[in-house]
Amino acid sequence: MRKNIVAGNWKMNTTLAEGVGLAKDVNEALKNAADVKCDVVICVPFTHLASVAAVIDEKLGLGAENCADHVKGAYTGEVSAPMVASTGAKYVILGHSERRQYYGETSEILKEKVNLALAENLTPIFCIGEVLEERENGSFLDVVTKQIQEALFDLSAEDFGKLILAYEPVWAIGTGKTATAEQAQEMHAHIRGVIAEKYGKEVADNCSILYGGSCKPSNAKELFAKADVDGGLIGGAALDAASFMGIVTAF
Ligand code: PGA
Repeated sequence: MRKNIVAGNWKMNTTLAEGVGLAKDVNEALKNAADVKCDVVICVPFTHLASVAAVIDEKLGLGAENCADHVKGAYTGEVSAPMVASTGAKYVILGHSERRQYYGETSEILKEKVNLALAENLTPIFCIGEVLEERENGSFLDVVTKQIQEALFDLSAEDFGKLILAYEPVWAIGTGKTATAEQAQEMHAHIRGVIAEKYGKEVADNCSILYGGSCKPSNAKELFAKADVDGGLIGGAALDAASFMGIVTAF
């Protein structure tokens, strides 16, 4: 079912003590907030998962920021989907542009990760988005179509229905430069159309598509008001409980 969702992506920030403190603050704020109209998730570093799981309530979802493309074995330094699930996490961000850009994650690799995550009943928050050059040369809709087709279109309709998508224009991530609400809506509607063509209208209508890229309390309301924007994936602004809650309450 399509839901409104605000998910934090802490990236490589916070020590364990700082992370547990931040999770407690978000948990407390969420508990005390009246009238929250969305699901709320925090995606935290692997090292923090088990400790954060121990201090938050059921109402606050927990996720990892990545998982391995193998299930187990001799992959020094990697963390598998079963390991993530064993901490109590329910979500995993996959295909973030920083993973694609800095760690060479291809659609082939991401396909494996999505399958392994789904096998553990983890909900992938699957990221797609164009770089500045693609925005400027007008190929951005095609680029995102291709990212979805290559990594996700081998899934059954049932499995596709378990995903959350996050459109994150790379030029807007951590830059302070947000896509306009119109640019976000144009892309989100396009994505829904691409899904509808492959899996039918019902699957497309039920898919939650989040916007990410310099989303903050001051612009969240306008973005979330758009028909096809179902929430946000929040980086920098998720590192402060008050600003994160400012986005959560923008619905
Ligand atoms: P940002 O990051 O909110 O700091 O731009 C978003 C993301 O990369 O998920």
